[in-house]
Formats: sequence, structure tokens, C-alpha cells
Amino acid sequence: MKPISLTRFLIEEQREKGQIAPDLRLLIEVVARACKAISIQIGKGALGNVLGNAGAVNVQGEAQKKLDVLSNEILLDANEWGGHLAAIASEEMDDPHLIPHRFPKGNYLLVFDPLDGSSNIDVNVSVGTIFSVLKCPDGVTDPGADDFLQPGTQQVAAGYTVYGPSTVLVLTLGDGVHQFTLDREIGSFVLTQSDLRIPADTAEFAINMSNQRHWEAPVQRYVGELVAGKTGPRKKDFNMRWVASMVADVHRILTRGGIFMYPVDAKCRDKGGRLRLLYEANPMAFIVEQAGGAATDGLGRLLEVQPRGLHQRVPVFLGSKNEVERVTGYHREAIA
Ligand code: AHG
Ligand code: MN
Ligand code: MN
Repeated sequence: MKPISLTRFLIEEQREKGQIAPDLRLLIEVVARACKAISIQIGKGALGNVLGNAGAVNVQGEAQKKLDVLSNEILLDANEWGGHLAAIASEEMDDPHLIPHRFPKGNYLLVFDPLDGSSNIDVNVSVGTIFSVLKCPDGVTDPGADDFLQPGTQQVAAGYTVYGPSTVLVLTLGDGVHQFTLDREIGSFVLTQSDLRIPADTAEFAINMSNQRHWEAPVQRYVGELVAGKTGPRKKDFNMRWVASMVADVHRILTRGGIFMYPVDAKCRDKGGRLRLLYEANPMAFIVEQAGGAATDGLGRLLEVQPRGLHQRVPVFLGSKNEVERVTGYHREAIA
């Protein structure tokens, strides 16, 4: 069979299923093009003078890497002139970026983590980009931060790329999850797997174990049972993986199952968690649910959390359904 490019995939979704509006198609293509440019910059490594710190601190209080700043700029430059967006929000910007007056405005809001897994850049480990698309509320012409505060159920599309040994783009438009691989010679994303499914059961978990002493009781109980293995209550051995790039950990789970956890703990309780709701948790939760998995904040469905701030953080449990339900059940029992 002839390879199906992202462009063809999107056109056929539009034509055959009426699944996607023309300006949403343009939006996805523009984001994908920007991700190609980011992939090229990352691939240069030390030769491109792109490694190391930028010398600034973002709204999260985290030191920005040069590639955080560069990836953010690439995504902004690519997206602001096409006429498909009303505003853009990013991990690396305190407030939303409005579309300059010289360009037409569209009906969508785009929010992204331009580079996820920044701590892995300098050691040549996989990083990625995460994005989520929302509708601009009716009648709003100059959207502010409040207009982005929509629960994840309102997302019209979400995706991520992993800049790894190969560059992959994983996308959902609310009709399953599809994977594209960047053909570097041709310069286009090619469909390499449609309808990804996450198995309901797994023997693999992902959590930063160094935070163990800070965890709350339900997470202590759940992970304690996993590491007890065959001789413990689960009567089964579990393996652990932690890349420290959410994109790479989630991608592994989409490929072969698993559970990913970043719980709230004593270290991050004041902030509400470690990962950000709008541009990390929600797009990943949308993708995982579309692939048959589950995603909660420990108590309820992540996609139903009403956001209170652009950079709000949340606890995250996502992946293989039966494991996510179990750890969520332990949290519910603890407050019952
Ligand atoms: P970012 O680089 O965008 O700030 O996100 C990093 C996140 C996420 O990708 C990863 O799962 C987590 O931080 C890693 O946290 P630890 O450093 O605590 O392992
Ligand atoms: Mn991130
Ligand atoms: Mn980031």
C-alpha cells in the first residue's frame, strides 16, 4: 500500500467522515510543520549551539533551556499568520499570545508545551511537544487567559510529538488515535499506525520513585503492592520505567501498555501537583481515553476538571484502564 501522508489523512478525514473543519486541518498541518522544524533543531545538538540554558526563568519558576525558548518561537511564528487561531497559550509564556492585528483571526485556541522533558535535552534523551486545541468561546474577539479555562472534554484535537530515534506525531481528533512517523528524506509525516489501543492490563509502571517518601497513603499502598511483586497481594511481578519526559513515557504506554503517575506529594502539594492541566495532562488524557485507556487526577476523570488557571497543576494517573481504576479506587477509599 502507498504511504499515507498526514496531509492526505487529514483531507480524507474531512472528506469521508466530515470529522474535521478545513481551518482545523490547516491548524494541525501548521503545528506538524513547526514540529518538523523543532525536530531539525534538536537533531543538530551541540553542532547547532542549541543546548544549555537560555538564562531566563519561565512563569513556572523553571530555568528555560535554549531549546524551550526556540521551540516556543517556532510554534508561535508558524501559527500566528494562518488565520486559524484566536490566541495561543504556552508553558513558556505567562499570558496568552494574541494574534497580531495585521493577521486575520480564527476560531481556535491553541495551547502547548513546546518542549516537554527539558531536563533530557542536554543528555540526548527523547523530548517532545504536546498540544491541545480548543474552540474560542462565541463572541470573544480578544481572548484572555479565562477563555482557555475549559475542561478537557472541550478539546477538539490533541497531539504530541516525540523527538527520539525517530520523530513521531501522535494525534487524536476525537475519533481514535493515529501515529505518524517523520520521513526525514521527504520531509513529511507518514501514517504508520492507526487506531492505537492501550491494553487494559499491564505489568509496567512509571513513577519518579525518588519522591516516595513524599507520597500520600493511597500511592504508597498502590506502588507498594506493585513492587512487592509475585509474593505480594498482586501475585505478579511489575517492571518500572521512568524516562522523565512525559511524552516518551506516554508513548511507551500507547505502544505496549502501562500506567504513568505523577501524584501530588508533600513536595508539590502547594502547587497542586507537578504536571500542568491545560498543556500536559488534558491533551494526554484525551489521547489515552481515545486509545481505550483511562486518565484521572486520583479521584475523578482528568478531562472533567474545571481549570482555574492557565498554568494550573494537577496530579496525573493515566494509561492501562484496570490499573488506573485501581489506584483511583485506593484514593477514593482513603477519603470515604
Ligand atoms: P517540562 O520539561 O515541560 O517542564 O516537563 C517535564 C515534566 C514531564 O515531562 C516529566 O514527566 C516530569 O516533568 C519529570 O519530572 P521529574 O523531574 O520529577 O522526574
Ligand atoms: Mn512538560
Ligand atoms: Mn516544557
